[in-house]
Amino acid sequence: AAASWTDQAQVVVIGSGAAGLATTVELATAGIDTLVITRGEITETATDWAQGGLAAVWSDEDSLALHVSDTLTAGAGLCDVDAVWDLVTNAPEAIDQLITLGAEFDRDGTGAYDLHLEGGHHARRILHAGGDATGREVQRTLAAALHAAVLNPESSIRVRAHTRLIDVLTDADGAACGVRVIDENGGIGEVSSPAVVLAAGGIGQLWSLTTNPSVATGDGIAAALRAGATIRDIEFVQFHPTILVVPESHRRPGDRGVLVSEAVRGEGAFLIDHAGDRVMAGLHPLADLAPRDVVAAAMEAHMARTGEPNLFLDATAFGKDKWESHFPSILAMCRERGVDPITEPIPVRPAAHYLCGGLAADLQGTTDVAGLHAVGEVAATGVQGANRLASNSVTEGLVAGERLGALLVGDRFGWAPAQPVRRDAAPATDPAGLDALHTAMDHGVAVHRTDAGLREALATLAGLPATEELTHASLDAENLRTVGTLVASAALARTESRGCHRRADHPQSVPVWVRRLTQRLVGDRVR
Ligand code: SIN
Repeated sequence: AAASWTDQAQVVVIGSGAAGLATTVELATAGIDTLVITRGEITETATDWAQGGLAAVWSDEDSLALHVSDTLTAGAGLCDVDAVWDLVTNAPEAIDQLITLGAEFDRDGTGAYDLHLEGGHHARRILHAGGDATGREVQRTLAAALHAAVLNPESSIRVRAHTRLIDVLTDADGAACGVRVIDENGGIGEVSSPAVVLAAGGIGQLWSLTTNPSVATGDGIAAALRAGATIRDIEFVQFHPTILVVPESHRRPGDRGVLVSEAVRGEGAFLIDHAGDRVMAGLHPLADLAPRDVVAAAMEAHMARTGEPNLFLDATAFGKDKWESHFPSILAMCRERGVDPITEPIPVRPAAHYLCGGLAADLQGTTDVAGLHAVGEVAATGVQGANRLASNSVTEGLVAGERLGALLVGDRFGWAPAQPVRRDAAPATDPAGLDALHTAMDHGVAVHRTDAGLREALATLAGLPATEELTHASLDAENLRTVGTLVASAALARTESRGCHRRADHPQSVPVWVRRLTQRLVGDRVR
């Protein structure tokens, strides 16, 4: 389709969560002409919904080595050790920078930062805000800095909200040279830019129950694949153990999956079944605070064994005061849906939460397509390994975004405009296939996977109907089909269980699989 409008910028940033905005704030300070493109409102991001917080070493009872070791243990042998040290070492300074911008985190009675505990952590190291609304404070702070930059008459920052990536444009040498987007009226726009930053988030919308916002349809990964970039580790999709199962009487179509933060277990809540028996007792030394891949897998196995559709998180011992002071948002969201956690256990089950793999990138955000950079959840740098440690992700977004922004400021002298090679817009899948896609992913590509289930899911995805029409809905369906196929193919190839990739037919971790799977488009086939 021909573009109905064009634009240009020195840098185009796709996405407005922690990683995208941290990059942009750095670019703003140096006066770089930057266009931020975001699918919804600036605040419609996974960052905004993050409850738990920001992991970093803040107390004398903690150490960098301990944070590294917890991250490596959770990552189940697939973390890049240098990348983990880099994250852990730089985390406190990146968070300090956010505090300088005005972020306020909860403090204890002595005025020191109050630190929460989550699964897989051997020390209290999670900063939080508003009890359980940490992401909102991060998003508020960065959005305010962005807003100030946009209002500044000297400003070089512009924002196009309700505008969505279709494709990364490439030039004759295969380098990124801009983006094709679709705006809220369905108009196609083309933005030329020598530097494209993908901070486009994850893929939770592949499954029918997810903690992710509706915009998490894998747009960044699908577009990067089409532009020739390498995807890696994509079989590692983390399912969060405790998502509220809304009672039938309160279910509304389109209602979001309500996360019950792991910090609730950090304060002493525990999982029980319908008989009131502890689910995690004896299964792991950290019991309910084991890394979340272990907890989610144990819950799924328990439910499969007993036939129960959900389990329960018992936090009734907290009482009213603790619930109201520590977890006010979760309390309100549960009550709105007919569950009162002060007096009754919360019905919960695992749901799709975080993509540990993604677009292969180094710690500078560099991908194997020149001019294309990736930060945050969309990027796979090796920090998350086979399973991300709780509350490392927003921290990673800040560290990576601040660094990439500063690097791009230095790089700008080498930028030259390039002409995009004209090619057709992304193909489209008929949104009528979305129900079948969700069923295939829920049954075949969730917490426990098998050869037969994965093959069946791949066949369903391959058979989804196509359409000529390029709309938001058909782009959702196309990108979800593309990314779902990547996840299922990698999961089929990895004939072992490791981190959040569990094969019921290959239950052990196998040393030969301490390696990464990569996928890229060669001709019209993914290899
Ligand atoms: C949570 O609050 O349990 C989620 C934290 C995370 O995913 O890092």
